[in-house]
Amino acid sequence: MSPLLLLLACAEAEAPTEACTPSSENTWATFGASFMAGRCSGCHGSGSPNRHGAPESVVFDDEADVWALRATILDSVTTRAAMPPAGGLTEVELTRLQSWLACEP
Ligand code: HEC
Repeated sequence: MSPLLLLLACAEAEAPTEACTPSSENTWATFGASFMAGRCSGCHGSGSPNRHGAPESVVFDDEADVWALRATILDSVTTRAAMPPAGGLTEVELTRLQSWLACEP
């Protein structure tokens, strides 16, 4: 491999998403689990007694579930502001969610 290609390969491996700024405050353990449980899983948990019509395919039980739908989640809470249906997310929550989901788990 040429030095240039090697350099590009390394840069890509170290920076999976350009917006990722690792922060110990915004991880599954320190933010994601409680945010998803408090704001989303009442309707999107597999064991929720009343999903209010949330699609069977949109389940947020663990970090892998969230990660698999990362782009759709971000779109639903930011661009379209469709979720949660009643609204009410704070700027702080939105910022932390974006920060967390920008980084590979
Ligand atoms: C009160 C129940 C309720 C809550 C709370 C809720 N959802 Fe939903 N969600 C739904 C329903 C119903 C649908 C299907 C209808 C629709 O898409 O509007 C849905 C669909 C979705 C979808 C797939 C369709 C789309 O809009 O892209 C995503 C992604 C989603 N929700 C993410 C979230 C996230 C993230 C949260 C928490 C911040 C959340 N939801 C909170 C009820 C809920």
